[in-house]
Amino acid sequence: MRTVFLWLLALLPMVGSVHAQDKGGKTSADVNRGRYLINTAGCNDCHTPGYPQAAGKVDEKLWLTGDKLGWRGPWGTTYASNLRLLASKMTESQFMVRARSEMRPPMPWFNLRDMSDRDVRAIYRWLKHMGPAGEPAPTYLPPDKTPPQPYVQFPMK
Ligand code: HEC
Repeated sequence: MRTVFLWLLALLPMVGSVHAQDKGGKTSADVNRGRYLINTAGCNDCHTPGYPQAAGKVDEKLWLTGDKLGWRGPWGTTYASNLRLLASKMTESQFMVRARSEMRPPMPWFNLRDMSDRDVRAIYRWLKHMGPAGEPAPTYLPPDKTPPQPYVQFPMK
């Protein structure tokens, strides 16, 4: 009995430190949630260079730095933006507004629209935690402009 009691005493400081981390680590829980969402909600598939080709084995430092792969269709040619640069220039509320607005294909903006505020915020916090990196993605081209390679061609009608 006495031994068990001593064991419990020995564990107390650990319990205390876990608590301290929880308190100070609120942001860090958000950042982890953001990382998880970016990884499982498909954001990396388009916004991280070479992600599907590498079967997801891309260093986290490169995540969401945008891609030069064009997506061409009746809407013109779009490029998955560098979200690391975007978030670095935006407040959380500006990012929330952007995340809730309509975008061109193949961005699944309706997925983002239907995501909870808490989850979109977690993605923003991960972006801020990682900071800006990479170059801006190429700019959008209207339908009458032929983009340079590489691009994915969607049916025109
Ligand atoms: C199928 C590819 C694809 C997937 C998956 C995808 N995106 Fe995008 N995203 C794009 C493209 C292409 C654009 C540019 C759209 C445009 O030009 O209107 C874009 C634009 C955006 C923008 C606006 C950027 C700006 O410069 O204003 C945000 C924010 C964004 N995506 C966030 C996300 C998040 C978060 C996820 C994961 C939940 C995600 N995207 C998943 C392709 C994708």
